[in-house]
Amino acid sequence: MKNIISIKNFNKNEILEILEHAKNLKKFPKTDLIENKIVATLFFEPSTRTRLSFTSASFKIGGKVLGFDSPDATSLKKGESLRDTIKVTEGYSDIIVMRHLRDGAAKFASEISSVPIINAGDGANEHPSQTLLDLYTIKENFKSIDNLTTAFVGDLKYGRTVHSLTEALSKFSGQKFYFIAPNEIQIPKEIQKELDLKGISYQLLSDYKEILNQIDVLYMTRIQKERFENPSLYEKVKNSFEISKGTILNKCKENMIILHPLPRVNEINIDLDNTKHALYFEQAKNGVPVREAMIGIALDKLNINFSKKETQYSIEKSSINLCQNQNCITKFERTENKIILKNDEKFCYYCGKKIN
Ligand code: CP
Repeated sequence: MKNIISIKNFNKNEILEILEHAKNLKKFPKTDLIENKIVATLFFEPSTRTRLSFTSASFKIGGKVLGFDSPDATSLKKGESLRDTIKVTEGYSDIIVMRHLRDGAAKFASEISSVPIINAGDGANEHPSQTLLDLYTIKENFKSIDNLTTAFVGDLKYGRTVHSLTEALSKFSGQKFYFIAPNEIQIPKEIQKELDLKGISYQLLSDYKEILNQIDVLYMTRIQKERFENPSLYEKVKNSFEISKGTILNKCKENMIILHPLPRVNEINIDLDNTKHALYFEQAKNGVPVREAMIGIALDKLNINFSKKETQYSIEKSSINLCQNQNCITKFERTENKIILKNDEKFCYYCGKKIN
């Protein structure tokens, strides 16, 4: 049994092995890979792609699916905790795919559950299955993930897909990043610091026009209204970017691809949909084989050569909850007061945010 909580837990070779499994499952379907295993999909937040593609993936490899797509029809409405929801669901299923609005919820669930947990997105924290399908799409297109220039555009502060993909691409050589966003929703300082430590070249910008002709992957994201604490800030930044044929064509590289985790609001004009650059619907479709592979790996039906990781940090317990992130799962569930000590700095064990 393997939990899939964070892309940080996989090295480059392990990621490539997952992508290879996905490619093989697409080419040679295995309709009995997880025969009769029950996959629980617990979605505490809205989803179209992630929930439906995990469901489709489960059916395609012989599994059965139960779950919910909104907490409104569950006993959470009666005040049940996430802890108890997980303890109960493990009795009904062989694996749990969970999306939750709180940062660190997937890690918390994995500590409680006796069946594997796959993180289908936890708050503004991570979205590892999205990252794997993003990488799959990049690799299918460029044949390699090395030596690419990627521009991330939009909500880089709250965008969990951006956080996970930045982390994953950093494991491959020759990467260059542009982070293009209004200052208020730029890429978090902790991620910038990680990139500095790894010696990865990146630049923060407020517009993409100057550097459009250098980009291999244009990764657009939605400004996520639901994550803003300050509604007037959302109103200020909501229309920051809209790419269209007029702003992109003949100004970008011939082979530049446009990705978007979707849903989009107005950041990609539909006039781009039928151009050779637009790969976002193909990207969404790739979620099925990638999630088939993830479920197969989590249930030990597919192997990857996991290497023993050298931990460059220690975990300690404190007497009180030190995490300052008000959206951290530790603020909503009874958790242990664990912190990570790394390079003389403290981080929350669950949401990973720096503790000052
Ligand atoms: N990309 C993504 O997570 O889409 P959904 O929110 O529709 O699942």
